[in-house]
Amino acid sequence: MKHDHTLSARQPDIASGTGSAVADQRLARATERGREFLGTRHAVMGGAMAWVSDHILVSAISNNGGFGVLAGAAMRPQELQQEIDATRGMTDQPFGVNLVTLHPSFDDSLEICLNEKVSHVVVGGGIPNAKTLSAIQTAGSKVICFAPSLALAKRLLKSGVDALIIEGSEAGGHIGPTATSVLAQEILPHIHDVPVFVAGGIGRGEAIAAYLRMGAAGCQLGTRFACAKESVAHDDFKRALIRAAARDAVISPKLDGMFNVIPVRALRNKAMDEFRTVQSELLAKFRNEEISQTEAINGIESFWSGRLRRAVWNGDTENGSLMAGQSVGAVTGEWTVSDILGELIDQARSAMRDF
Ligand SMILES: Cc1cc2nc3c(=O)[nH]c(=O)nc-3n(C[C@H](O)[C@H](O)[C@H](O)COP(=O)(O)O)c2cc1C
Repeated sequence: MKHDHTLSARQPDIASGTGSAVADQRLARATERGREFLGTRHAVMGGAMAWVSDHILVSAISNNGGFGVLAGAAMRPQELQQEIDATRGMTDQPFGVNLVTLHPSFDDSLEICLNEKVSHVVVGGGIPNAKTLSAIQTAGSKVICFAPSLALAKRLLKSGVDALIIEGSEAGGHIGPTATSVLAQEILPHIHDVPVFVAGGIGRGEAIAAYLRMGAAGCQLGTRFACAKESVAHDDFKRALIRAAARDAVISPKLDGMFNVIPVRALRNKAMDEFRTVQSELLAKFRNEEISQTEAINGIESFWSGRLRRAVWNGDTENGSLMAGQSVGAVTGEWTVSDILGELIDQARSAMRDF
């Protein structure tokens, strides 16, 4: 555990004179493709975080040279419309919207994005179908998809996506099985046709520099922005993340392979322990033929419903879901987005200089 529990602990290490012309040039060259694709000053995406990534955080990230992404999948279509309008009211810089294909209101939310000519749509929840892809691209928007393996990255390329995010299991939120460092080695050397952004477990700029050197176009970070001053998250949610060390961000338990529920990385708390008990009760009922497999799976899936919002908005750190990546160890206080991005870029620059 870290020791300083205040909301504004250690100050960022920025403006420490670590830049040099050579470092600036190297960083500029390494990020050129990503910056061009995003239309930003920095090749850093602020990954969508359900209930956290609203117009205030997203506009702050974009105004400070990063690329903010609205968490559209957690919003009703009407709210998404309002959030896009509000974001545009606060920034004239590019930002994206994250949607999830499996979501019941995906089509309606996508229609809003296309009517609004949102420049980049970040599509999660599987490979979007050809109709969806062509609708987005015909409207003039770019499609960014998540590639959890090289095989899927190649399929996504064939289907015509404009960029990829490879997000490893160190990330906060719903995760796949493979570590970011392994995915980067598996995918970056083989995918050159589109920009690839790396996400999951990135807490410092040196890590960004390392992935850039491996061929990434840029990186996506979530957890580091969750505790920003501009984040709507409850003080108790922020405090829990500021207190936590990397090892506290654990994967939700899975008691039986038959229940194929997507795992979530979050801070260990009462809800995490309860989730184990609920699964074992449902499993026992299923084995005793008291409930069907579908009922058991639905029971397990519904357990987390509403819990992230409960933690983020209400500050219920025991019964809510404290989604956070292992990068949580790098969250040491409630900083402004400007300070967070400033430190990350400074660290990346100094890693480039010293290489
Ligand atoms: C609280 C929280 C909520 C998240 N919600 C979403 C989401 O709605 N959609 C999505 O694609 N990714 C979501 N993510 C993943 C982030 O966009 C990002 O890829 C991830 O946080 C990167 O790893 P890091 O947390 O180690 O930086 C979420 C992450 C966190 C921490």
